[in-house]
Amino acid sequence: MHTGVFTSPVEHFHKLNMDVDQQPTLMEGGQYIMEGEEEAKSTTLIFSMTEEVGALANALKIFQAHNVNLLHIESRPSRREAKYEFMVECDSTSGDLGAAMEEMRASCSYFQVISRNHLDNKDTVPWFPRKIADLDRFANQILSYGSELDADHPGFTDPIYRERRKFFADIAYFYRHNQEIPRIDYTEEEVATWGNVFRNLTKLYKTHACKEHNMVFPLLIENCGYREDNIPQLQDVSNFLKDCTGFTLRPVAGLLSSRDFLAGLAFRVFHSTQYIRHPSMPLYTPEPDICHELLGHAPLLADPSFAQFSQEIGLASLGAPDEFIEKLATCYWFTVEYGICRQDGKNKAYGAGLLSSFGELEYCLTDKPELRCFDPAKTCVQKYPITEYQPVYYVAESFEDAKQKLIQFATSIPRPFSVRYNPYTQSVEILNSKPQIEALVREINCDMQVLMDALLKLT
Ligand SMILES: [Fe+2]
Repeated sequence: MHTGVFTSPVEHFHKLNMDVDQQPTLMEGGQYIMEGEEEAKSTTLIFSMTEEVGALANALKIFQAHNVNLLHIESRPSRREAKYEFMVECDSTSGDLGAAMEEMRASCSYFQVISRNHLDNKDTVPWFPRKIADLDRFANQILSYGSELDADHPGFTDPIYRERRKFFADIAYFYRHNQEIPRIDYTEEEVATWGNVFRNLTKLYKTHACKEHNMVFPLLIENCGYREDNIPQLQDVSNFLKDCTGFTLRPVAGLLSSRDFLAGLAFRVFHSTQYIRHPSMPLYTPEPDICHELLGHAPLLADPSFAQFSQEIGLASLGAPDEFIEKLATCYWFTVEYGICRQDGKNKAYGAGLLSSFGELEYCLTDKPELRCFDPAKTCVQKYPITEYQPVYYVAESFEDAKQKLIQFATSIPRPFSVRYNPYTQSVEILNSKPQIEALVREINCDMQVLMDALLKLT
């Protein structure tokens, strides 16, 4: 049996739908900054009341007395105690939530706050998605949008390019979980830019890319239309990845915060851009584009070991304090983006930033940069430039080795619970009670018996 958190609500009162028709609006300072309507303005409370009879009714009275609107209520038998446990999402802009929380805390045997505004209270766990559909909330929570390019961007003075970027940003902004990613009719100019990048990079892959990348690449040519004269469609690549490792792609309208981006990885979801770099500089891009995603990231996401490593970074990030998010994002940078690994006595590139940059892919395997062993505790505090070649790279013995080191590092992250991904329900389980863990042990025990049986049959 799977012990999902809040997957079998006894009482399920009301769910407020997000307003998906809300248009992006230009904020002061010339940027489109999407504040999700629920994330910043809502606070989730998980609690058990000390009194069992009429527990929820009593709790609701407290919220009512302080004029706090409730957006969502769920309950389930508590696994911590022989009682019910409730999850209530409150509109933090209404009434006096602080006073309601104080009163609640006094009459609860267990009380946990999960909030986007976690900085206000050191005991609060930062909000994180628990179901794969929760990732829809990030679609409206991006740091820059569409045509808003920096003054030094190659497309800054090109109104047609900016309009095109807005077109792609809108697709991602309105995309929701489980929808097909819209297919793009790329222009001749866009295909020519892709072709230029494709031609140059594929010359280097045989000698410079890791064996996992070289193994998957022909499959992408065969199954997803990877060709010099064709930009593959995100949906086709996403379907392919799903068959290989369960990873899927979802379009992203702009830059996500590190916390949100890493949280996607916990669900084996990779946020991907769909636009292409400006044609004036085909071998340079100041930001990720479809060449970077499809040539750099996608091949590795099809490798089971690498997929698991990526997901571990994501799982470690859920509910982690801000300073650890930065450390995990730095580990991500030096592995998934700029990682090098040892294979058959040679160094090979596996980072997407390297595999999608003709110049840096050559440079990283010369004797110019400094190479160090990947060690998350040290790597996580290394500073790095973002607009030039890396002076330092970290070398992993293998993806398996990197994953074990990362799992070990994740144990140093202060969190009041452990998390586990349940692929059947595509949700994150919060492991914080003995009965839950016992159920999980029983489940793993069952799997072990299947393995033992298979092993015996082989011998
Ligand atoms: Fe990337």
